Amino acid sequence: MASEKAARKARFEAVFAIIRDDLVDHCTKEGLPQEAVDWYRKSLEYNVQGGKLTRGMSVVDTVEILKGRTLTKDEFVNAAILGWSVELLQAYFLVADDLMDGSITRRGQPCWYRSRNPAFPALSSSGVKYPPVGLIAVNDAPMLKSAIFQLLKMHFRRKPYYIDIVELFHDMAYKTEMGQLTDMVTAPPEVIDLARFSLERYRTIARFKTAYYSFHLPVALAMYMCHIPESYTVRLDGATTTLKPYDLTLSILIPLGEYFQIQDDFLDFSAPPAVLGKVGTDIVDNKCSWCVNTVIKLCTPEQRATLDRNYGRKGDVEAGAVGGEHDVKTEGREDEAGGLCEARVKEVYEAVGLRTVYAQYERRVYEELNDLIDTIPEEGVILDRNGQEAEYGGLKR
Ligand code: FPP
Ligand code: MG
Repeated sequence: MASEKAARKARFEAVFAIIRDDLVDHCTKEGLPQEAVDWYRKSLEYNVQGGKLTRGMSVVDTVEILKGRTLTKDEFVNAAILGWSVELLQAYFLVADDLMDGSITRRGQPCWYRSRNPAFPALSSSGVKYPPVGLIAVNDAPMLKSAIFQLLKMHFRRKPYYIDIVELFHDMAYKTEMGQLTDMVTAPPEVIDLARFSLERYRTIARFKTAYYSFHLPVALAMYMCHIPESYTVRLDGATTTLKPYDLTLSILIPLGEYFQIQDDFLDFSAPPAVLGKVGTDIVDNKCSWCVNTVIKLCTPEQRATLDRNYGRKGDVEAGAVGGEHDVKTEGREDEAGGLCEARVKEVYEAVGLRTVYAQYERRVYEELNDLIDTIPEEGVILDRNGQEAEYGGLKR
C-alpha cells in the first residue's frame, strides 16, 4: 500500500521535467539570454518542487475516480500537467507570502528571496559570489503564475474546456489574493491586537486563503477535464431536477477546506514537533488562528489579559526579558521558536480546555460534512434538451 502511494507520487513527480522543459525552452525560443533562462530554471526547480504535492496529485486522483478506470498515458500526463499547474500557483503564493511575512525557511530550505541562486554568480565583483535572490523574487513570483497560462496554452488550447480552466485559475487566484488581503489587514505586520480577531473573520480568511485553491481548484479542474457540464437535467425517482455539479462541489469542498485549516491550526498548537514535522509558530507569529479565536470566546478577563500580554511575542514579556511596546512585534524570528510568552499562551489554551473543544468540533464537522456529501443525488438518468435520455459524454452546455 505504502509503496503504491510512493509509486503514484514518483509517477506524478516525473511529469515535472516536462513542464520545466516546456517553460525553459519557451524562454530560450523567445531569445532570452542564457543567464535569464538558467535563473528561471532554478526558480522553477527550487520553488515548485519539494512540497507535499497533495493539491497536484488530487487532480490526477479525481480524474481517475471520475473516469472509473486507469488513465491512458495521454490522460495521465494531461491530468498531471494540470496538477503541476496547481503546484505552480502554490509556489507563486509562497514565494510572495514569504517576502511579505519576512519568513526564514520554507520546505526545509531558505525562502527563495533569502536563497543564493548558483545560476547567477554575476555579481561576484561586489565580493559576494552568489548574492541572495532578494527583490528579484518580486518578479520571480508572478513568473510562476504566468507559467500556468503558458502551459495551459501549450497543452490545452484545442480542448473544449480550455477557457473554463483558464477562468478557473484566474478566479481561484483572485479569491486567494482576497484572503491574503483579509489576513494582512487582520494581523498587519508589526501590529499585535487581538481585538481585530474573531471566529467569523477567521472563517473568511481560511475559506478565501486556503480552501478555494487547495480544495475546489484541483477537483474542478478534474471535472472540466472529464467534460462535466456546468449544469444538466436528470430524471431521478420519476422527477426531473437540474444539477449544478460545480456549485455542489464548492458547497462541500469549501467547508472541507475550512476544516483542514482548523485541523492545521490545532496541530500547530498541540502536535509534538516529531509528528508535525516542524515547530509550531502560530502563537509567536501572531497568527489569526482558530485556537486563539476559540479561546478568546471562552476565557476569563484575567486569561484574556494574559493573552494580550503574551500573544505574538517571543521571549518573556512578563519577566521583562523582551522590551518594547506591546503593539509592536518583537524581532528575532530567526531564533528557535518558543519562549515563556508562548508557554503562557499555551497555559491559557489548556486551562479553557481547547483540546476538548477541538475534539467536539471535529466530531460535529465530520457529521456535517457527511450530511453535505449525502446531499449529492444518487446517479439519475441524464436528459438532453428534449427530455430524452442523453449520452453522458455527449452533453452540451
Ligand atoms: C501562506 O499563508 C499564503 C498563502 C497560502 C496564499 C496567499 C498568498 C498570496 C495570495 C500572495 C500573493 C501576493 C503577491 C504579492 C503576488 P501563511 O503565511 O498563513 O502560511 P505559512 O505559514 O505557510 O507562510
Ligand atoms: Mg507566511
